[in-house]
Amino acid sequence: MVSDNRGLLAIDESSGTIKKRFDTIGVESTEANRRDYRANLLRAKDLGHYIGGAILFDETLRQSAADGVKIVDVLKAQGIVPGIKVDKGPKPLAGFPGETVTEGLDGLAARVDEYVALGARFAKWRAVIHIGDGYPTPTGLAANAQGLARYARICQEGGLVPVVEPEVLMDGDHDIETCQRVTEAALDAVFTALKAHGVLLEGMILKPNMVIAGSDCPTQTSADDIAARTVATLRRCVPAAVPGITFLSGGQTELEATVNLNAMNAKFGPNPWKLSFSYGRALQASALEAWSGKAENQPAAQAALLKRAQLNSQASAGTYTGEGVN
Ligand code: 13P
Repeated sequence: MVSDNRGLLAIDESSGTIKKRFDTIGVESTEANRRDYRANLLRAKDLGHYIGGAILFDETLRQSAADGVKIVDVLKAQGIVPGIKVDKGPKPLAGFPGETVTEGLDGLAARVDEYVALGARFAKWRAVIHIGDGYPTPTGLAANAQGLARYARICQEGGLVPVVEPEVLMDGDHDIETCQRVTEAALDAVFTALKAHGVLLEGMILKPNMVIAGSDCPTQTSADDIAARTVATLRRCVPAAVPGITFLSGGQTELEATVNLNAMNAKFGPNPWKLSFSYGRALQASALEAWSGKAENQPAAQAALLKRAQLNSQASAGTYTGEGVN
């Protein structure tokens, strides 16, 4: 999934999230619109040169494009591994105001069997860590880590490679040191739980946030600082047995996500794991805008996605030399 400097495309927005994205371009979130938008992007010519796996939402895994070709077969024709988001989203953690825990473990083993039969070969589960006054707490981190570890073990037993996603949110005015401290604590909790549950580290992918200042923090730091702190944190926490680390973009712009990933690979390697991408917004933002719900814009949307995919593939090799590199 991360061979040949490829990364993952997160195109698994839940019903609520895709509605928010479509609202920004004034398009109604109907099943046909979601299908047409996603099928068109996944058919971008040569997308598989830069994208090794695509994470789908439940609806999309079961869907066919308007011409009747199953989305799973669209991916197979591109050499892209089909993946599936299996969590049911973060819910308030009782007793811990401000914190959430991700739901979706009930019945997961049976759902994994079904997803494998539908053609999925890997899965994603996102735990959300909020930074605020007095949190995250050790209890909140442990609850989320337990969920990730139970999910990962169930997936491995059922035949899906787990993508383990503990996301420390960029929301807030915290500084980069705070993000680094919380990210280190979150990753320590996750790997303690993964080991306790006997998850095979060689058979998983980690999908973390980058270490970055909160979006409302007045002091934003350079790509080199973000890259240095991110790589240092991962080296402290992630065993070398993990083959791939694919970052989420988390609210960074398309350009920032490319430049920051490139800085890690160009200046802070070599590392024991592949450092690549699993972006949602940072791969799709300009494609969504280019499409704007109009069939005649489908080629422009494909071109916009392909451009980001290609530049992020370069960033995963540390060879990106475009805008934003000093
Ligand atoms: P973003 O890159 O937009 O953060 O989305 C990645 C993702 O899959 C979050 O779960």
